Amino acid sequence: MSVVGTGQFFGSPEEERDKLMQSLMDQKNKLSKSEGIPFVTLNDGKTIPQLGFGVFKVDPDEAERVVTEALEVGYRHIDTAAIYGNEEGVGRAIAKSGIPREELFITTKLWNDRHLDVEAAFEESLQKLGLDYVDLYLVHWPAPKNDNYVAAWKGLEKLGDRARSIGVCNFLPEHLEKLLAEATTVPAINQIELHPALQQRDAVEASLAAGITVESWGPLGQGRFDLGAEEPIAAAAKNHGKTPAQVVIRWHLQNGFVVFPKTVTKSRMVENIDVFDFELSDEEMAAITALERNDRGGSHPNDLN
Ligand SMILES: NC(=O)c1ccc[n+]([C@@H]2O[C@H](COP(=O)([O-])OP(=O)(O)OC[C@H]3O[C@@H](n4cnc5c(N)ncnc54)[C@H](OP(=O)(O)O)[C@@H]3O)[C@@H](O)[C@H]2O)c1
Repeated sequence: MSVVGTGQFFGSPEEERDKLMQSLMDQKNKLSKSEGIPFVTLNDGKTIPQLGFGVFKVDPDEAERVVTEALEVGYRHIDTAAIYGNEEGVGRAIAKSGIPREELFITTKLWNDRHLDVEAAFEESLQKLGLDYVDLYLVHWPAPKNDNYVAAWKGLEKLGDRARSIGVCNFLPEHLEKLLAEATTVPAINQIELHPALQQRDAVEASLAAGITVESWGPLGQGRFDLGAEEPIAAAAKNHGKTPAQVVIRWHLQNGFVVFPKTVTKSRMVENIDVFDFELSDEEMAAITALERNDRGGSHPNDLN
């Protein structure tokens, strides 16, 4: 390299060469990490990075630091919600990052008490995020006892280009059926609680049959399980020299789900994105799938109103 030893750097030529090589390697790692994330094409023709970063329970005071680190690590897809109370921190991290807006995929969600007030709720979210559009806006829960989710959906349909894609969360087959009977637009996404111990096959099948992409929330079981104590996960982790969390994230990806594990810990951000250099075998996938035990950590969609 001709720049080494020209006086532009201040160590010995060897030290400067090492520094330069290290900085090139760092740059390459950063690029290959974010570039390695596959995209999924939605039923509206838009694309979404299959691996993202969730911020449920990230303290509003911590959100800017956490999302800044996640963007530094290489995540480009952030999943937040009005109810998380941290849209402003997420927005500050986005603004500060200097990453071109079109390289980011930002999701937020409509809370249950705003089903009849979509336009105002959506504008509040945009303002807090400091954005003029989001990539994905979701109805957070069907809240079926209130019975306003179809009205909420019609509100989302009216947002136009300010919500590039629209979808739902926590919709069971009966909620989807009712929605689809009255909707003009088929939801692009159904985001449901999904991990090896709760796979919601009925909701997955109903979503896929309607052309709706499934997103897994609580993909690691929200910290409720010792993943390494689950034999098939531990065995696959050992076999591939990976961690139990990496194996579970890989299981989601190989099943075609969109997934966005949450962590406030930078080393785990690095760990959770480092899942593109190995592949679970059909046998390993099946053994992890056999961990299904209908173990729901969050609310049942019919009970949260
Ligand atoms: N639509 C909905 O109703 C809904 C509901 C819940 C969640 N979500 C979305 O889904 C996202 C993900 O779900 P979630 O946050 O509930 O749960 P999760 O991602 O399954 O689990 C998060 C927990 O796992 C820990 N963790 C993360 N990486 C780890 C690793 N490599 N090894 C060991 N532990 C690890 C985290 O700890 P630390 O943070 O302490 O590192 C945290 O306690 C949310 O952030 C949110 O965006 C949506």
